Amino acid sequence: MNDASSALYLGLISGTSADSIDAALIRFGGGAPQLLGTHACPWSSDLRDRMLALAQGEGVLDLDAFGRLDVEIGHCFADAALQLLEQCQIAPREVRAIGSHGQTLRHRPAGEYPFTLQLGDPSVIAERCRIEVVADFRRADIAAGGQGAPLLPILHAMLLGRPGVSRVVLNLGGIANITVLDGDGNVLGFDTGPANGLLDAWCQRHRGEPFDRDGLFAASGRVDQPLLDAMLADPYFSLPPPKSTGREYFHLAWLAAHAQLGSISAADVQATLLELTVRSIAAAIVQQAPFAEEVLACGGGVHNGALMRRLGDVLAPRAVLSTSHYGVDPDFLEATAFAWLARQRLLGLPGNLPAVTGARGPRVLGAIYSAPATESPERMVSGAS
Ligand SMILES: Nc1ncnc2c1ncn2[C@@H]1O[C@H](COP(=O)(O)OP(=O)(O)OP(=O)(O)O)[C@@H](O)[C@H]1O
Ligand SMILES: [Mg+2]
Repeated sequence: MNDASSALYLGLISGTSADSIDAALIRFGGGAPQLLGTHACPWSSDLRDRMLALAQGEGVLDLDAFGRLDVEIGHCFADAALQLLEQCQIAPREVRAIGSHGQTLRHRPAGEYPFTLQLGDPSVIAERCRIEVVADFRRADIAAGGQGAPLLPILHAMLLGRPGVSRVVLNLGGIANITVLDGDGNVLGFDTGPANGLLDAWCQRHRGEPFDRDGLFAASGRVDQPLLDAMLADPYFSLPPPKSTGREYFHLAWLAAHAQLGSISAADVQATLLELTVRSIAAAIVQQAPFAEEVLACGGGVHNGALMRRLGDVLAPRAVLSTSHYGVDPDFLEATAFAWLARQRLLGLPGNLPAVTGARGPRVLGAIYSAPATESPERMVSGAS
């Protein structure tokens, strides 16, 4: 087995959009992490629908259904990892560990008993892949008074930080989050609000399609200013960082609470949701990163041409580019981050940035789930005697 610092790691995540389980195989060593292979494993539409309904607070689960769902999701994560290993022709024993984020079903970092809940039984993944698994990355930060999110900024700083260059890394997932890199080594980061989550949900309801390809549905409508103003007045947008949010807050019922939706055409609502994404991101960048020269976008939203063009217009003269411009695959940065966090865990090093999450201090994140022994139990007994 390789030592923990220089080795292969496999990162797994399904984000708030629940569009796919993203898997990345990374070699860590002396220089920059090397991305050896990637795989996006789609969810079945039945399981995706069930997860999204629960994540949006629709329906209830009894404890039996909850336990079964955790294991079912764990099997899907194991499938994604095994498919990637097969694709890369890599044997499980060559991989030091899997870092598995799981699927978030609830994120409530505020309140008397703050919590965050990711499903996808790590023991199932370890058993089926025969690889050690690190999982449950967010709760130690929340226990330390932090948001448990975002966890990506530390990797953004490593991969895209440059001395003397002020930049923003913008993750356009279900929720949008920004990382501010000031060029002096200081890092700030937080969730700005919705990105694809609301766009997907509205498109699914009115078009029967899981997402608005290239933003064409949004581009066919016009922004409804009263609706936009009402949504932008939501207190989340003016909360100071640290802050994080999820689908349990920004969902279709949240949208419905802001307008008489029947009086606005579906295309105009889609256009307004896209504008909400752009305006809330731009306001956060202007306020927190006034000197940023570039905004480097990652996450599935980089493939939404209408969204990227509008971000470019509103954020001008800053350049809005995909992270691919600097050789960083925008679709697998998160999976890479969880591979890296698994390595941090095995090295006993912190994975959070207290300046980002608001935690009381740096924390080693994640719990370790052992791989099954490679030797048979009989062999181990006779070998010990
Ligand atoms: N061609 C495209 N046109 C428009 N939107 C796209 C396209 N490709 C992907 N997307 C959007 O990207 C989303 C997936 O992005 P991503 O995987 O980064 O989000 P996520 O899984 O929610 O991650 P996060 O953990 O950052 O929230 C899809 O749900 C869709 O909305
Ligand atoms: Mg995704």
